[in-house]
Amino acid sequence: MGQKQSATEEPEEIDEGAVLVAKVEDFKTSKKLRTTVNDREIVVFHHLGKHHALDLRCYHSGGPLHLGEIEDIDGRACVICPWHKFKIVLESGEGLYQGVDPREPKRTKKWFSKGVKQRTHKVTVRNGGVYVTLSDTSTMWCDSDTYAKEKFIDQPCPDPVA
Ligand code: FES
Repeated sequence: MGQKQSATEEPEEIDEGAVLVAKVEDFKTSKKLRTTVNDREIVVFHHLGKHHALDLRCYHSGGPLHLGEIEDIDGRACVICPWHKFKIVLESGEGLYQGVDPREPKRTKKWFSKGVKQRTHKVTVRNGGVYVTLSDTSTMWCDSDTYAKEKFIDQPCPDPVA
């Protein structure tokens, strides 16, 4: 099952491990923010009134998701990786793909989920601050964990492939 983590505008309290990454007003000029939380590279998106935090580097091959655009795919807000156009659901980190169900007579293309591929992190908004709490990496493997390792942190996260 996917981890469903998104912003709560006025929570009871802030998690002990939450890290202040920005002010709410920082998202007025840009709808995305690249940051680091406890040595993990994160991107925070602000989309349709909600904040979503995901691992910065795409699960497929480490592409820079902070340079990706947001699109509605089958009713779900997704970031489109600028490198190979993989679609990742902001809310859950699921990878989406389009395919045909051969059992269906019409064989029209539909969107399917590959399951959770990109790690999401909890976002809490409190008193004008945006806080990120890293998800527990010990309970579930996500493909994006591969590119969240220390060896990638000092490497540049380059612009999209031309
Ligand atoms: S690196 Fe993101 S789609 Fe390939």
